[in-house]
Amino acid sequence: MQNKIFSGSDIFPKNTIINDKNNISINGVDLKDLAEEYGTPLYVYDEETIIDTIRDFQESFTSEISNSIISYLTKAFSNPYILKLLDNQNMSIDVVTGGELAVAKYINFSPSRINFHGNNKSIEELRDAVKYNMNHITIDSFNEISNLENITKDLNITQEVMIRVSPSIDPHTHLLTTTGVLDSKFGFSIETGDAEKAITKLMKIDSLKLKGLHFHLGSPIFELEPFSDAIDYVYKFASNMREKYNFDMKEFSPGGGFAIGYLTEKKPPKIKEYAKTICDSIKESCEKYGFNIPTVTLEPGRALVGRSGVSIYKVGSIKKIPGVRNYISVDGGMGDNIRPALYGSEYSVFSVTKAESEKNLLKSTVSGKFCESGDYLAKDVFLPNPEIDDLLVLPASGAYNLAMSSNYNMQTRPAVVIIKNQTPILIKRRETYEDLLSTSLL
Ligand SMILES: Cc1ncc(COP(=O)(O)O)c(C=O)c1O
Repeated sequence: MQNKIFSGSDIFPKNTIINDKNNISINGVDLKDLAEEYGTPLYVYDEETIIDTIRDFQESFTSEISNSIISYLTKAFSNPYILKLLDNQNMSIDVVTGGELAVAKYINFSPSRINFHGNNKSIEELRDAVKYNMNHITIDSFNEISNLENITKDLNITQEVMIRVSPSIDPHTHLLTTTGVLDSKFGFSIETGDAEKAITKLMKIDSLKLKGLHFHLGSPIFELEPFSDAIDYVYKFASNMREKYNFDMKEFSPGGGFAIGYLTEKKPPKIKEYAKTICDSIKESCEKYGFNIPTVTLEPGRALVGRSGVSIYKVGSIKKIPGVRNYISVDGGMGDNIRPALYGSEYSVFSVTKAESEKNLLKSTVSGKFCESGDYLAKDVFLPNPEIDDLLVLPASGAYNLAMSSNYNMQTRPAVVIIKNQTPILIKRRETYEDLLSTSLL
């Protein structure tokens, strides 16, 4: 059979095909060969897909509003090689902990392109961030205002800040990944008056320079309307704050939350469509409420790296319960991908060597090897004649899989390979049992 693009390819990295050996290959690299060389479970990223996605974000937003900044939320996958790649592309990043900042520092990511988020930053984290001379800190609580005031006065440094507001708008995604509603730990609520109090407090502190407002609605957001509704609501509030306190909105951030395709039948909006809706809404609000077009910071995490990564597992056990369920157990699971167990997230699953086969399709639950009944990767997927040692691949595994991984059951975390110029490069080795014990003291 000749190389062919297979039906699932639009949720895989670019240039994913079925090769002449009938195996799935990404950018010229056969996934079966990778599994043999590096073992399973294995995470594989495609550099070209990441770079294309960065360009797509940059072009889509700057063609609508020239002062658009794309700032990758490193929490989606914080890895030195990936951050270096982003730094080389002149990207900005957002970190939410001292640990994520440490990864950025490790590769000397330009501090002027780092922003700091988080709902409970420690005094040490804030002090470190201010000293590091990063771009802006997005303030999330009253205690943070006081802490930052003390730190900046003590260090005699003026720090640029944004305020995270909560616009009480539901983006219709999973409850656990919804952040911009009233009942949320994140942000100052506009509805309760907290956002106004935060602005008045901040505007009296000389060492903190308030540039503008930020919101993040949740993730993944498949609809466009919540963005326009929230933008209008926040601008209306900003206009009210300008009238009362002379507040100006020089910078504005509608956050991230852009969706990716996990299932072939559930397609997300294109990046261009998000850009058009968001930028049109900002322009309309600026005109309606009499503001200049601000610098706009977009914060994609998932959408920047999600599609570029896949995870490969090997089948080790098959249990068929007639009339009930067929369990196909693989050598990874909730330790490297907790999203299905935590959020009920859905994934597509393909056989690496029988991707388009229609033979003996078996309705299966792909379960993991962790000692939990809730440990599964996908439910009710159809696998062609599942057998022991089959290799299965989950596309769209690049964001929030390894980032949320654990050593539960003392399981070692998988290796990570990136494909660059049709060549695999190991960017994270598989953990060893020595790694597991390296922090323990007897
Ligand atoms: C403040 C903020 N911005 C951006 C994001 C990125 O979200 P996503 O990875 O869905 O783009 C998050 C994630 O929760 C966030 O908390």
